[in-house]
Amino acid sequence: FSSNSLYTSHLSLGFFFFFGFIGIMFQDITTLLLDHKAFKYTVDIFVDRYRDMGISVVAGVEARGFMFGPSIALAIGAKFVPLRKPKKLPGEVISEKYELEYGTDCLEMHLGAVQPRERVLVIDDLVATGGTLSAAIRLLERVGAEVVECACVIGLPEVKGESRLNGKPLYVLVEPR
Ligand code: PRP
Repeated sequence: FSSNSLYTSHLSLGFFFFFGFIGIMFQDITTLLLDHKAFKYTVDIFVDRYRDMGISVVAGVEARGFMFGPSIALAIGAKFVPLRKPKKLPGEVISEKYELEYGTDCLEMHLGAVQPRERVLVIDDLVATGGTLSAAIRLLERVGAEVVECACVIGLPEVKGESRLNGKPLYVLVEPR
């Protein structure tokens, strides 16, 4: 990745959140999407890793997991299942709440979208505390699916998100300092 492909901005709010001390840190992948070679390179890394792992479901976390998940699913011959924020999906859903730095949120999945014993890749743009991915894992395990791995473009190891993933492997491409 070039330094221009991932844009880091800092918003100093004067109180402790996320990395505390200096305020909230944002890692934004939208500039990566502007560079088609970098975007394709990113997707290709995931495709090369997961194409022969018997994965039949790519589950993308709203919102930025939707930007990577469908391309990966098409390339590896899997279906794409969106894990959405509350009240977005039209059919019957199951829900899992999770903690944020600033409250709670919830992910929902359509009942019937994933079958028992299906092998699933969970994809998102970023893992920080791991709360979002842990809710995704719980949703999928409630329907009897096997989460093979969670994958993100960016990982923030300082907040130890991997420790919240119930032993599931985490694969990240970059860990900004
Ligand atoms: C961001 C990011 C991940 C999540 C990671 O989403 O896209 O989904 O935070 O944080 P965690 O590891 O501490 O759970 P956000 O909650 O901002 O929601 P959005 O994608 O709807 O903006």
